[in-house]
Amino acid sequence: MAADVIIALDFDSADKTLSFLDLFSGRKPFVKIGMELYYSAGPDIVRAIKARGHRLFLDLKLHDIPNTVGKAMRVLSRLDVDMVNVHAAGTIPMMEAAAAGLKREDGTSALLLAVTQLTSTSEERMHKELLISATMPETVMAYARNAKAAGCAGVVCSPLEAALVKDACGPDFVTVTPGIRFADSAADDQARIMTPAKAREAGSDYIVVGRPITAASDPVAAYERCLKEFLGG
Ligand code: C5P
Repeated sequence: MAADVIIALDFDSADKTLSFLDLFSGRKPFVKIGMELYYSAGPDIVRAIKARGHRLFLDLKLHDIPNTVGKAMRVLSRLDVDMVNVHAAGTIPMMEAAAAGLKREDGTSALLLAVTQLTSTSEERMHKELLISATMPETVMAYARNAKAAGCAGVVCSPLEAALVKDACGPDFVTVTPGIRFADSAADDQARIMTPAKAREAGSDYIVVGRPITAASDPVAAYERCLKEFLGG
């Protein structure tokens, strides 16, 4: 199973993003761009980052009717992204349409991930507002099973849920986990956090790390520390 550290490029412009990436003269990090940067800089920023040799997770969390999601994924597949995601709440037909839309003519495909429940959603709100009466772990496991049945390669989840997901869906089902902090760094607005080493032990295949790297005084050193703690050696 592949394992890597993914840097969350939560910047609001192409200039800031590319200046940040200029710092990395050695290993080209796997990076994630989300809605803020994609909506401000568009597909050009994806092309620019890919042209520099980075692997890229496009974190747009699609959730719409199957036809719309399938067609949107067809467009994204031409951008040569390595990972994309949808909300598992869109149900199995929507995730199937996403998987079909992502298939390139040469048979390759970006890794399709599903978001189970957002880590910002509390169990209380899930019960009261979404009318889901199951517990959070039961919900996450059921959504992960649906994602697997629909042809997704894995899920985005809390590192605290990674082991549950592996139990439910098997060791090859990929877990990508944000909410990572060094033992000595600030939690910021993340509530349920884990260190890179603990996340690996807990079953994370990829960790998504933003501010502990992007806001560090030496981002390259922070990235290398993260790689070392996560991958060992
Ligand atoms: O700066 P930090 O390490 O908290 O960044 C985490 C990244 O992972 C951000 O891009 C955030 O949007 C994303 N993310 C998250 N929790 C989720 C899903 C995505 O923190 N459940």
